[in-house]
Amino acid sequence: MMLNLELNINKETYQVSAYPGERLFTILRRLGFSSVKFGDEHGKSGSDTVLMDGKPVNSYLLLAAQAEGHEIETIEMMGEHPHQGWKETRGLHILQQEFVKTGAIQCGYCTPAQILAAKELLSREPDPTEEQVRDAISGVLCRCTGYKKPVEAVLRAAARLRGVEVPPIEDPIEVPPEWINSPFDDSIPQEKTVQSIDGTTLTAEKVITTLKVSTKPEDWQQVGKPKVKVDAVKLVQGKPAFVADFEHRDMLYAKVLFSPHAHALIKSIRTEKALEIPGVAAVLTHKDLPRVIYSTAGQSDPIPGPLDCFSLDNKVRFVGDRVAFVAAESEEIAERATKEIEVEYELLDPIFDSRDSMKPGAPVIHDEKEYVNFADSDPERNLAAEIRIDIGDLEQGFKDADHIFEAEYEVPKVQPAHIEPHAVVTYWDEDDRLVIRTSTQVPFHVRG
Ligand code: FES
Repeated sequence: MMLNLELNINKETYQVSAYPGERLFTILRRLGFSSVKFGDEHGKSGSDTVLMDGKPVNSYLLLAAQAEGHEIETIEMMGEHPHQGWKETRGLHILQQEFVKTGAIQCGYCTPAQILAAKELLSREPDPTEEQVRDAISGVLCRCTGYKKPVEAVLRAAARLRGVEVPPIEDPIEVPPEWINSPFDDSIPQEKTVQSIDGTTLTAEKVITTLKVSTKPEDWQQVGKPKVKVDAVKLVQGKPAFVADFEHRDMLYAKVLFSPHAHALIKSIRTEKALEIPGVAAVLTHKDLPRVIYSTAGQSDPIPGPLDCFSLDNKVRFVGDRVAFVAAESEEIAERATKEIEVEYELLDPIFDSRDSMKPGAPVIHDEKEYVNFADSDPERNLAAEIRIDIGDLEQGFKDADHIFEAEYEVPKVQPAHIEPHAVVTYWDEDDRLVIRTSTQVPFHVRG
């Protein structure tokens, strides 16, 4: 059953149909409010913040039906680019202007939410302290800026809104006097080599000559002066900039069925029930894909790591490994279809400790015949890499040391706290080239 809702968003009325459990976030995105960003399902990142009756709320935690009868505000209402071709607009809101000017925007994913949170603060406290600003935006995580610049931007905006003049920030940075008109420093060695214990050269380090500035800073056009980030005006309006912000007509949504087992063979996999669901366009398993082996390691080519992955395989090697892909007309349908895939697993002995993994007779995780070794990797011992770096005379180093601490260090799997989700949008362009838009730093992997 669908609900017919009347929502007041940015002072306009929208008639929308929503599932009873559908979130306000989903409706806002469906209506094209790309400034409202998904960060997590629990309201922790705050990038989904909107104002409801002037108060910040997490749109992902709010049912669409709960928003009926309230005034919802997103950053799309606050201000826009002052010049749009022949048309002059009212321009950006002062908060937006200060975020642009102060350099408070790096990736910009949190920016719309931060500005809305700041707007609410200034509506009740026109002259906030730094502490109040920090508190007001504390519900919106920013992985990039360290908050210094956003806080500065809010304080400057508050001052301007009160009619108080703020100092310009375009002043050139102060240049240390020793930089001015100094000669090039040739005293630094150009190259130094490091010897290994057996006398062979291990590394060579090239030191680039120190560059000394020899012109007058007041003449500089660009260097030493703050510059507005090229995409700041776009980001401060919450315009589409991130992968998940882009949609195409008749786009399909993909979901992945993940393995619940740490180590298992897929004995059989049936997709008929999933394919029968209306709106499901495709269900792919390892039987449908060519076996192309690749590495997920490294950021370069050739890749520093063994080739030991397939998009889909008949074996799963960790909890969360990929089992099947579904493409459907909506995320909800795709999600439902993953639950209808029937998989029969043959459980294999798992390994939970890296030390156990190298013991003789340990289960071999990578026994695929296509495995490509890298350096000292050894799939028989479950060893992905072994890297030893010797620099200097180790024994002498121990002799000279005042203290020797010996310990074994283990680090957990670490994931940087990016707020933008991993997402990818692909399509065939007008020249029949596959275009891949994805949130990654490693295009080599995507190309593979
Ligand atoms: Fe805040 Fe990147 S600028 S998350």
